[in-house]
Amino acid sequence: MPPGVEGVVALVDLPDAAWESRWTRIVTTEGLKDRLLNFTLFSLRHRGRLDAVRLPIHGLVVLAGPPGTGKTTLAGGLADTAARELGAGGLLFVEVDAHAFPSQLLGESQRSVARLFERTLPDLAARGRPTIVLLDEVESLAVSRSGASLETNPVDVHRATDALLEGIDEVARRCPNVTFVATTNHPAGVDAAFLSRADLVEEMGLPGVSSVKRILADTIAEVIGSEPADEPALGALAEACVASQLDARRVRKLILRAIASSRELALSPERLRIEDVAAALRDEADGAHR
Ligand SMILES: Nc1ncnc2c1ncn2[C@@H]1O[C@H](COP(=O)(O)OP(=O)(O)OP(=O)(O)O)[C@@H](O)[C@H]1O
Ligand SMILES: [Mg+2]
Repeated sequence: MPPGVEGVVALVDLPDAAWESRWTRIVTTEGLKDRLLNFTLFSLRHRGRLDAVRLPIHGLVVLAGPPGTGKTTLAGGLADTAARELGAGGLLFVEVDAHAFPSQLLGESQRSVARLFERTLPDLAARGRPTIVLLDEVESLAVSRSGASLETNPVDVHRATDALLEGIDEVARRCPNVTFVATTNHPAGVDAAFLSRADLVEEMGLPGVSSVKRILADTIAEVIGSEPADEPALGALAEACVASQLDARRVRKLILRAIASSRELALSPERLRIEDVAAALRDEADGAHR
């Protein structure tokens, strides 16, 4: 945690060459990245001069989807790419630690959330640069206040949600240079009033065959130094991955399983073939069914 910035895990100046792959290597459905980037640039550049009743823009993007579909990575990549597009001084990327707030002390998490939105984030925004704030795994900050949740969660958790909503509204009013990107793999657990404030909600689902093909080729190329040449074998493997409902992270990890299953590959990974990866998938599926 940067010294003195409570509730914030990271403060990063972007663009950063090391962040570029967070955008380019994440495979999404057509149009999704364009919408994210277009909206973010619009929000960072024009939000300040818009009438909030005529166009109620909060500067809030939500990425929702199952684990391992690239939400957190793409949020960083979006910030990095927006920084490149903005030019000049780039932007400040602030990552909020959503898990820093639950507390045993009554009222404490509510006060910490309020402090974050009333003091910490406005102070960071007052530096004057375009600022993207990542609310990763926002379901733990914006816990739904629905009936079922009221029975299982202490009232304090719901007060923290109230504080978050007030905070988002406050930053939207006071800090036109701030845009939020929130991620969640459990949208049903996210408070409805929070989702209602989102300007753009994008679903990131499990990858289909053509996405898996690209992800496999990209991962294998990282290991062997060039794209795999055997198109039909790659296509068959991608179909098998989709049939096993692998998320994109699992698809990339499959290459590690293939390497782990042979001492020869561990020592000379450039010899990896698609057949080795297919065997790793069969092996993993067998293990799961035993
Ligand atoms: N859509 C994708 N295209 C290519 N690679 C991906 C994709 N999604 C995930 N990956 C790979 O998996 C890694 C982890 O993804 P990430 O942590 O961003 O997923 P997530 O959706 O935030 O998951 P979680 O919900 O578990 O936090 C990425 O860095 C990348 O290597
Ligand atoms: Mg994540």
